[in-house]
Amino acid sequence: MRTPCFVANWKMNKTLGEAQEYLRTLEKRWPHLPASSWEAILAPPFIMLAPMAELLKASTLRIGLAAQNVHFEDRGAYTGEISPLMLRDVGCRYVIIGHSERRTYFGETNALIHKKLAAALRAGLIPILCVGETREEREEEKTWEVIERQLREGLDDLRPGPSDWLIAYEPVWAIGTGLTPTPAEAEAVHLQIRDFFRSLSGEEADTPRILYGGSVTDKNIAAFMQEEDIDGALAGGASLSADSFCNMIEQGVKAKER
Ligand code: PGA
Repeated sequence: MRTPCFVANWKMNKTLGEAQEYLRTLEKRWPHLPASSWEAILAPPFIMLAPMAELLKASTLRIGLAAQNVHFEDRGAYTGEISPLMLRDVGCRYVIIGHSERRTYFGETNALIHKKLAAALRAGLIPILCVGETREEREEEKTWEVIERQLREGLDDLRPGPSDWLIAYEPVWAIGTGLTPTPAEAEAVHLQIRDFFRSLSGEEADTPRILYGGSVTDKNIAAFMQEEDIDGALAGGASLSADSFCNMIEQGVKAKER
């Protein structure tokens, strides 16, 4: 059984005061579901990781922290960068790697993403690797070709165990647009990703959890979670409200249990 996982990617949003308010709302609204049956992760901007780790420690919330990016060296002359060791040091367990906004606006290539993935795993962080096709690639029916290359070149010689990392399938055209694939279309890609991992490590092998991302809301999450190979969600816009993030978890977990 793969534990459903919900990630709130705040991107470049919220001040520390707003983050505190968010956590207060979560404490009030925390979904009353068996705690072992799901997992939630917040990915705030770097600068908030340390104070939020402290706030979470002092709260009753059981929630993981993810960085939105990481450098591939542990230390050195890389002005403006943050290393995997620094993330571990402040109590961050997860890191999003290869988000399409980093690929598009910051020129991150599969080769660079491979280095980041390797560094994060070496440091004992749990990477959340994002893959997905653009609208043009989809129209040209190159979706799997693109994703297969992102996985193959991102991994290269790495073979993380199923619980050492997570995958997020995020069609670029669905991010922040209000558009989504149908749950069946998303499921088809998730299954291809899962089969790709099975082909690497054997038919019966466990595979990492695969989250869907791209305009997920508390309204559409249930339909995605009813699909066999969709193990959770990576939400941007809809995760900025603590209430809607809680609703999403509730709806998502219930749909999985049905
Ligand atoms: P969105 O973003 O939910 O706002 O579409 C998802 C993401 O970029 O991770």
